[in-house]
Amino acid sequence: MSWSEVPPPPATNPGNDLPCVQVRPPGPESRTWLTRLAHCQAPMGPRRDPTAPPSTIVLASGQGSNVLDVDSNRYVDLAAGFGALLVGHGNEQVLRAVELQSGRLLQALGDVYPSDAKIGLLTRLGELLPGRHTQCILGQSGSDAISAALKTAALATGRPGVLAFEGAYHGLGYGPLSALGLRASYRAPFSPQLNPHARFAPYPATDAHLDEALTAVEAALREGTIGAVLVEPLLGRGGVIVPPSRFLPELARLARAHGALLIADEVWTGLGRSGSWLASIEAGITPDLICLGKGLGGGLPLSACLGAAELMGEWSRAEEVVHTSTFAGAPLACAAALALLDVLHRQRLVERAAEVGARWRAALQEEAQRAAGVEVRGAGFMIGIDAAPLEGGAVALQRRLLERGYLTSTGGGAREVLVLTPPLTIAEPLLDAFTDALGAALTELAPRQGPAGR
Ligand SMILES: Cc1ncc(COP(=O)(O)O)c(C=O)c1O
Repeated sequence: MSWSEVPPPPATNPGNDLPCVQVRPPGPESRTWLTRLAHCQAPMGPRRDPTAPPSTIVLASGQGSNVLDVDSNRYVDLAAGFGALLVGHGNEQVLRAVELQSGRLLQALGDVYPSDAKIGLLTRLGELLPGRHTQCILGQSGSDAISAALKTAALATGRPGVLAFEGAYHGLGYGPLSALGLRASYRAPFSPQLNPHARFAPYPATDAHLDEALTAVEAALREGTIGAVLVEPLLGRGGVIVPPSRFLPELARLARAHGALLIADEVWTGLGRSGSWLASIEAGITPDLICLGKGLGGGLPLSACLGAAELMGEWSRAEEVVHTSTFAGAPLACAAALALLDVLHRQRLVERAAEVGARWRAALQEEAQRAAGVEVRGAGFMIGIDAAPLEGGAVALQRRLLERGYLTSTGGGAREVLVLTPPLTIAEPLLDAFTDALGAALTELAPRQGPAGR
């Protein structure tokens, strides 16, 4: 429902319409809602000048790859819920599954009296790793899944330490937070409460950085306290960095040699986002544990930690130990996830993300080079545009693109990378139109004078 006096623009190709910005964002309705928000929501993020005009908008509705804000502006959503809306807004099959399930059973009784929907999903998740007997722990957020994986590694190895990477983001619960390499300020106020055995190694962006990274990994593993090596197969929030192809196999080899478990954080990369079902398997490794989240619930909060049955058997002890929560494996989210997995399969969306994503990335690279000489990188529909050399970085670019009707997000330690994670269903003409808009926005930004601040 829109709250604006302005009627929404007519939809000619519902869900795949070009942008229509009728009121410069943020329009008056967004501003009113944002004033209310500032009053009632705890103020997160960098402290803002209260007199500065707001730069965000308030969303009212979405369909496919389009969203409407409360001023009836129509945007193309290239952020898609931070990459979570793999099949876009309001996918018919996902909605139907949610509707049917909500008429049957909204909530079961977790591990005590589980729902059939939860068991159906667990069976289906096991099929993601053919040839292995896989078992899962469900949760509600990516952070939950990582916590479950870190605990599993601690149970299996008896070691307290975790090795993570600079620039990494695994969520903000206490377990994942101790392994957060993206921004020191996220950890600093809580550091006395965090795992003191966390170590960090550089995440290699190129072959030239690989040896340095692996040397640091090996040095940390030699300490003998590391039970878990936690890695994103592609660094996501850290700035969409694709590591050299040898990185993951070498990392897996080192972890094994030193008795640590390898956890692949596929919360972002998994289920087609990066152009394959699982980026770690695509890279030729078999991690001990795989974490999924974001897209898994088709827009509802759901996550999973997957591992071989033998390893997951570590949870079964004489003295009870569990990892669960009231809504873990909630039937509604499980039904949505089953529908999502069906849509991904039937419409071959993972393959589409690889093919269309590669074509789009090449077009973006050409345009970004021509307009501003900046780099484009990524895999599938997980793309980063490095705006560090430009005044205002990705935040300034994001703002200009919003005015042209495109929702994007930012990544990197200094928010220097514009991040594009559209629905895997997005129509190609929208991608082409965005490529032109990007070129126009980039030419408006001056080269940066000083160094990019962190
Ligand atoms: C790679 C990765 N892991 C874990 C998380 C945490 O997920 P959540 O925000 O659902 O806790 C994120 C979130 O952006 C992520 O990108």
